[in-house]
Amino acid sequence: MFHLAWFTNPRAHGWTANGADRWAGNDVKPERWQTLSFLKDMVRQLEAACFDFIMIEDHVVLSNDKQNLEPRVDPMIVMPVLAEATSKLGIIGTFSSSFYPPFLLARQINSVDLISNGRAGWNVVTSSEDWAAQAFGRDKQPPHDERYAIADEMLDLVKQLWDAWEPDAVEMSAESGRYVDPGKFREFKFEGKYHKSIGPLNVMRSPQGRPAICQAGSSPAGRDFAAKHSDVILCSTFGQNSVQALKDFREDIRARVVKHGRDPDDVKVMFLISPVLGDTEEAAQRRYDEIVGMTPTILAQRLGRLTLHTDMDWTKFDLDAPFPDIDPAQVTQGFQGMIASLKAFSKGKTLRQTLAEQETTSLKLIGTPEQIADQMEAAIDEIGGDGFLMHARPLTRRYLAEILDGLVPILQRRSLVRSSYRTEHLRAHLREF
Ligand SMILES: Cc1cc2nc3c(=O)[nH]c(=O)nc-3n(C[C@H](O)[C@H](O)[C@H](O)COP(=O)(O)O)c2cc1C
Repeated sequence: MFHLAWFTNPRAHGWTANGADRWAGNDVKPERWQTLSFLKDMVRQLEAACFDFIMIEDHVVLSNDKQNLEPRVDPMIVMPVLAEATSKLGIIGTFSSSFYPPFLLARQINSVDLISNGRAGWNVVTSSEDWAAQAFGRDKQPPHDERYAIADEMLDLVKQLWDAWEPDAVEMSAESGRYVDPGKFREFKFEGKYHKSIGPLNVMRSPQGRPAICQAGSSPAGRDFAAKHSDVILCSTFGQNSVQALKDFREDIRARVVKHGRDPDDVKVMFLISPVLGDTEEAAQRRYDEIVGMTPTILAQRLGRLTLHTDMDWTKFDLDAPFPDIDPAQVTQGFQGMIASLKAFSKGKTLRQTLAEQETTSLKLIGTPEQIADQMEAAIDEIGGDGFLMHARPLTRRYLAEILDGLVPILQRRSLVRSSYRTEHLRAHLREF
């Protein structure tokens, strides 16, 4: 069996570089996404399809690409709303280790875990953008690997904060007059290289004890951090479209997990996919061609996204020359793994061709629901596990229906994915198989 999860963000769904998708309907309007009415409908459907979790993507500031401004809603506000709309689905929010004081973030995520009965998770990102640092009163972000060192120390502190309460701290005794047994929590002082705090929190132990940790970095420092701390790791090979590349990624992660003294089966690797479905293979291929069709607006958008994520200017390169021969660690403090994957994908291609054929996913899946189910099954058989993180291009109710009513029931009939929840908490969903 394998795991399924959904990747999205609280922004105008159905909006594309070519305008509103013809199936976006009213969901693209601010009153539908900003009040979360679309997202609430969506999580109920994901839960009916027995997904492990929804992951809410985030960046804290606007992109510097003025053609592609993506206003959004803060995930910390979205998480409890989605938790309230569901009872089993895991809810993972993205929060940057660079911008939250550890005590505040530990307290907030712990609180979401409490109110959701053990379904909260934190996608730890380190954030590369200097203008995000400026929003928080600093001039620039620390270098790439140091950001991971800061995040690593933050996780050590946050875990101590989460661990400080005993599970049986509630005394609730009329005799003593105490609600809490004062002997059932640990007071401590934390003084690290980057963080300083005291414990415990004034929020008690949550159902999971430690809310689930998720991470998506693919550089060596990112993989090591993920192997040490994560319950789930998200992977995109940015269009390399090779099952072998996914297998290599998972094996590398599992080896690193073992080095950290952990059981590799406790860490799930989920591969990002955006299946394109049709009633026939030809219809699916036509839709795929439409989606990736390289209009000038889409080219500009892809260059803008690459510039944003890698924190370097890609417009300086000749689009019709071979993909630039650059060493990610030498040229940027931004997303290095993204450049490494694109470079591996670009062999023999120009920058323009790379951008045209590049996808933000790991496997190209185009076809009828049955064909896609076959490909997912074959891929997981070869990779060895653990599951897929689905991402819509664009996200519309039609796309949800295609995946949740078209594809998932086929996977369920083949007993490849969950048909009912047997566990209550997010980490337990992840460790069920
Ligand atoms: C599926 C997926 C989801 C991600 N979501 C976010 C996000 O919400 N916010 C963010 O700042 N970075 C996000 N990232 C970026 C990673 O957290 C990480 O910073 C990036 O992959 C570069 O890390 P690296 O330099 O270690 O390769 C995501 C990456 C992937 C593959």
